[in-house]
Amino acid sequence: MSKALDGVRILDFTHVQSGPTCTQLLAWFGADVIKVERAGAGDITREQLRDIPDVDSLYFTMLNHNKRSVTIDTKNPEGKLVLEALIQKCDVLVENFAPGALDRMGFTWERIQELNPRMIVASVKGFGPGPYEDCKVYENVAQCAGGAASTTGFDDGPPVVSGAQIGDSGTGLHLALGIVTALYQRTVTGRGQRVLAAMQDGVLNLCRVKLRDQQRLERTGTMKEYPQYPNGTFGEAVPRAGNASGGGQPGWILKCKGWETDPNAYIYFITQAPVWAKICNVIGKEEWATDPNYATPAARLPHLKDIFAEIEHWTMTKTKFEAMEILNKYDIPCGPILSMKEIAEEPSLRKTGTIVEVDHPTRGKYLTVGNPIKLSDSPTEVRRSPLLGEHTDEVMAELGYSPEQISALRTAGAI
Ligand code: COA
Repeated sequence: MSKALDGVRILDFTHVQSGPTCTQLLAWFGADVIKVERAGAGDITREQLRDIPDVDSLYFTMLNHNKRSVTIDTKNPEGKLVLEALIQKCDVLVENFAPGALDRMGFTWERIQELNPRMIVASVKGFGPGPYEDCKVYENVAQCAGGAASTTGFDDGPPVVSGAQIGDSGTGLHLALGIVTALYQRTVTGRGQRVLAAMQDGVLNLCRVKLRDQQRLERTGTMKEYPQYPNGTFGEAVPRAGNASGGGQPGWILKCKGWETDPNAYIYFITQAPVWAKICNVIGKEEWATDPNYATPAARLPHLKDIFAEIEHWTMTKTKFEAMEILNKYDIPCGPILSMKEIAEEPSLRKTGTIVEVDHPTRGKYLTVGNPIKLSDSPTEVRRSPLLGEHTDEVMAELGYSPEQISALRTAGAI
């Protein structure tokens, strides 16, 4: 079957996590992604967090599926010529170097436009234009500067970063959407354009509800669904809300049977208004369904702590899976806290291709997260990540270089 992005060629100048997540998605949708790396070194993640000596790390393999790898020294004059040939042949250049690195290499937007006016140049940077535009940025810096850390954690503790890589992978997702949108616009204009996804902006986009709450707080001085209400105090900025749901339906994480020894024996429980009577029945507090102090969502807000404590008495008598089964029967929204071990072993995720086992020539078999976006006419086949420079000769031949020229360039250290 054909793929959605068949025929799109991506010059992948990305490294670490944010850029590679973007180009991996494009590769899964069928684009030919040619990853440019430095000979002898490659993407720094090849050797970071290694679990097997001298073998590409899981960090690298899990972010670079379905790509081809070529080695080019883009600071070598002859290597630069190879890169120019690639720019002329590709549709999109994706990069997430530190600010200015591409310009310092000699590949300014103007130069790229001269070489290929149809080229889309897509960049991840830590910050957009402004005071921090020249800063190097990693995941947690973005989480801190984008509003995630100040709004995550508990009121009596410090800011907390999330395990979800919203700064890196989140921004990679944003960039991928920018790229396909620019490709679509190019079908009309015939021109390339620059696409920028700043990590601070990407994180802030994902924290949109917290800017909503900031303005609610400024107007009313309180937020009744936050755990600080009614007994705590609110300051000037949106506080950390613990495990509160963040939406109009109050929720919290509750202990389940076995919590004393299993750090993940918990369930997320949502006291959704339409099923309140059912919740009361399940936990044996039938009287709350009609008690004026508990019967309506507004009446319940000052009592949320007590309500969740009472529900927890019930959840602690069940495992998280038993609780799920019972609550789902009554359409009560809830979710088990799943460990990575449980997720890795979940058969339904294997069946849908969300968790995939991949074979690798030097690593052997490993698990990865497949494409979370499923297209009915463009199914994803996850192929292993390339070894460093595995496709250099193949890509050079496609660019018209003869075997002798390739060998001379290799001797000159250009590839
Ligand atoms: N041939 C020759 N030189 C190459 C090359 C190649 N194939 N590929 C990269 N380089 C050079 C670059 O030109 C740059 O050189 P310069 O500093 O002399 O201009 C150098 O390698 C290092 O690039 P840089 O991006 O500065 O790497 P770093 O390891 O110092 O910084 C980051 C890493 C992630 C902090 C930085 O790239 C960054 O802030 N990126 C933008 C935000 C981002 O994506 N962050 C999240 C990463 S998950």
